[in-house]
Amino acid sequence: MSAEFIAEKLAADPRILVIRLTRPEKKNALTAAMYHGMSAALDAANNDPEIRVAVFLGAEGAFSAGNDLAEFIQIASNPAAADETPAAFAFLKALVGFEKPLLAGIDGLAVGIGTTLNFHCDLSIASSRSVFATPFVDLGLVPEAASSLLGPLTMGYQRAFALLAAGETFSAHDAQQAGLIWKVTAPEDVEREILAAAAKLAAKPPAALALTRRLLRGDKAAVLGRIEEEGQHFVACLKTEEARNAFSAFQNRRNS
Ligand code: COA
Repeated sequence: MSAEFIAEKLAADPRILVIRLTRPEKKNALTAAMYHGMSAALDAANNDPEIRVAVFLGAEGAFSAGNDLAEFIQIASNPAAADETPAAFAFLKALVGFEKPLLAGIDGLAVGIGTTLNFHCDLSIASSRSVFATPFVDLGLVPEAASSLLGPLTMGYQRAFALLAAGETFSAHDAQQAGLIWKVTAPEDVEREILAAAAKLAAKPPAALALTRRLLRGDKAAVLGRIEEEGQHFVACLKTEEARNAFSAFQNRRNS
């Protein structure tokens, strides 16, 4: 398992799987190894009857800065790798395939998939200082995680456009108003509150909860289809000059 995240049952309540990102020096940017490891953890948890709920947590001040841009640069500059679908897409499929409640406790930065992950969570609690942003277009890319489908459905077209196309940053309050997250709380209360919510769900009849969740979530095929469609555009965009220029700008930002 990657050292850059930890997936383990909570000692005090093994019905709760905690997936914690532990790469704070890179603001919890997500690498292929992390995506693969987290996909495997979700698949294993799906088949583990003891686990009833999974909770994503990040670091203090950084839930996740999104996909590791160094890996995007590698993909973009290596023609042999350029046609491969980034590991993120396998992770997204594992998220959609997860049949138990998914929760997120967010403090600070939630960029890219750090934001769009919440479309697949059932309850997210963010600290009041959290910021949500998806700079896909600024990077020469397109939205992922079926956010181009779930965004307009969740928050209405214009807010979805502001977040996903215009690259506007949403405060925790904006994200709550938009229905992207459930609650806003003080930074020091995020983990306690999300784990308390997880414990309440873990105590409920699991079959009825799973059925209710499935009904609320609706058509999985449409979501998976959109992830696939976005993935094709994403891979094509990674190879464009627009994207390469944006990645270089990120790499060189300290020198400018
Ligand atoms: N991929 C790779 N490395 C990243 C990263 C990412 N997505 N986000 C942050 N990092 C790294 C930085 O390169 C830096 O590493 P270094 O110290 O070795 O140079 C370290 O994390 C700290 O980041 P820094 O930029 O100094 O922190 P900040 O608080 O000033 O800014 C962000 C934080 C998230 C606003 C900024 O890092 C950023 O814009 N990151 C890119 C986000 C992004 O576009 N994600 C992809 C979405 S699809």
